[in-house]
Amino acid sequence: MIALGIETSCDDTAASIIEENGKILSNVLSSQEVFHKDFGGIVPEIASRKHSELIGYTIVEALKLSGKTMSSVDLISVTKGPGLVGSLLIGIEAAKALSFALHKPLIGVNHLEGHIYSLFLDCSPLSRVSDPFPLLVLIVSGGHTELVLMRSHLTYQVIGETRDDAAGEAVDKFARFLGFGYPGGPIVEKLGSNGNSNAYKFPGLSFKDSSPYEFSFSGLKTAGVYFIEKNPDAVRENIQDVTASFENALINILVERTLKAAHDFNVRGVGVVGGVSANERLRKTLNAKSDLPVYFPAKILSTDNASMIAFAGLMHFKRGEKDDLMLDAHSRLGL
Ligand code: KG4
Ligand code: ZN
Repeated sequence: MIALGIETSCDDTAASIIEENGKILSNVLSSQEVFHKDFGGIVPEIASRKHSELIGYTIVEALKLSGKTMSSVDLISVTKGPGLVGSLLIGIEAAKALSFALHKPLIGVNHLEGHIYSLFLDCSPLSRVSDPFPLLVLIVSGGHTELVLMRSHLTYQVIGETRDDAAGEAVDKFARFLGFGYPGGPIVEKLGSNGNSNAYKFPGLSFKDSSPYEFSFSGLKTAGVYFIEKNPDAVRENIQDVTASFENALINILVERTLKAAHDFNVRGVGVVGGVSANERLRKTLNAKSDLPVYFPAKILSTDNASMIAFAGLMHFKRGEKDDLMLDAHSRLGL
């Protein structure tokens, strides 16, 4: 089987062609970064207009690079939510049009489930583990920070999530207050890569341990903004240490909570997905502190992409599920 994946939930227009076993034949991403960066975040109206301009080219390019044509595609998978409704609808309508015109089955995919399935694509080390379950997955992106327990394929128990901001949101805001563009994560990572991560103290979790698997990043986010306002000299002269210290505080929260849950639920391994999972300091720290195997997607598949959507759709389709032309966008879809 060959699947076409389409992803337009946020600011990247993406299309991919994969094989049934999760082998990626093409993975195309038209980034909108340049259109949003001056605003310090994503402007929904710009995002949907750009998706509308780019979606056709992106799908054609994915087909071209894969060496396939639409006639050899057996399934069209598209992100149905969560995300920006105006953005999601562009991908969904493109998928519906192709499905209707070419009589191809259509399936809507949860974006978070897509991130989880980035771990099972053929190029990921986890795809070669014969029985990875129970598996704990940390989803850590611009909109979500949650811990998910998987006892088998396509089953999810959310055991903890953030009470307030997502980890990506905190680092994006910190970068914005430093005067850098969007997304903030890669900028902060680059600046802090040679910095002293213990030079400045940023707070960890700000609430009592009553919910051991919950996260909170609003305290850290506020402390970051406050630090920038109160310490212009440190920001000017010591930006490497400032960014390294902030990133380190954020990562410590993620690592501490994840390893506690992994231990308590007696899992066989830990997977980390979503944009922030591209972070090298997070990868190194978790690998160093975990006595269980830790799995990450390839860095290019940590951030939004359509290969993960194609694969999650395939998993559902092989179970006999599919959607019809009533498929709709859901901005607040949970797992
Ligand atoms: O998964 P993603 O591409 O989109 C969402 O579904 O939200 O995640 C985007 C988030 C942004 O907050 C971005 O700053 C963060 O992931 N991010 C990173 C890195 N690359 C992207 N955070 C830390 N280090 C990175 N290398
Ligand atoms: Zn995402």
